Amino acid sequence: MRSRWILALGVVLATLGLVGLGVVWMLESGALPSTATETFTSDGQRIYYTGRDADGRVIPGSGSGASMMRELTCVDCHAEDGRGGSTGMMMNSAVEIPDIRYSQLTATHTEHGPTSPGWSDRDIARAIREGVEPDGERLKAPMPRWDMTDAEIADVIAYLKELDNR
Ligand code: HEC
Repeated sequence: MRSRWILALGVVLATLGLVGLGVVWMLESGALPSTATETFTSDGQRIYYTGRDADGRVIPGSGSGASMMRELTCVDCHAEDGRGGSTGMMMNSAVEIPDIRYSQLTATHTEHGPTSPGWSDRDIARAIREGVEPDGERLKAPMPRWDMTDAEIADVIAYLKELDNR
């Protein structure tokens, strides 16, 4: 009889341990909003790092098929310095992540053949909301789309300017 109780106790403790590990893993992987309570120097920085609005809610939008992409925020892909760069492997294909510092977006673009003028703030807003470039080209899958308010777009653009001064 007694050994059965010890066995049951063992099972309970092991389960608690696994749950604990799960919570630690979720915190580590960002599945729990641990960053929501951090303080940021600007609203734009908060959005860049957390994808959340001033009330701590996730800014709605659409991922590209994989809902996992919606868990990621600007910083995860475009990096802390905004330069993106590293060709990461995503969904089994190599993806080039562009430099989105304000100076880069507004500089003359040459990626699609003939030189096209730099992006305006409206162009940047359209890329973030609709995933469309000024020349009509659609941004590739990993880049999610966000339903940001005009104020949030302005905050993000202000932060992309801040990144120029790093
Ligand atoms: C899951 C990764 C990912 C996340 C998260 C992400 N991006 Fe992107 N972003 C990309 C990729 C990849 C491209 C390039 C797509 C292409 O070339 O078609 C891109 C392109 C862009 C562009 C267009 C730049 C150019 O020169 O073409 C802007 C602007 C941009 N992202 C802003 C943002 C902002 C702001 C956020 C956060 C609100 C964000 N991105 C979050 C991956 C991401």
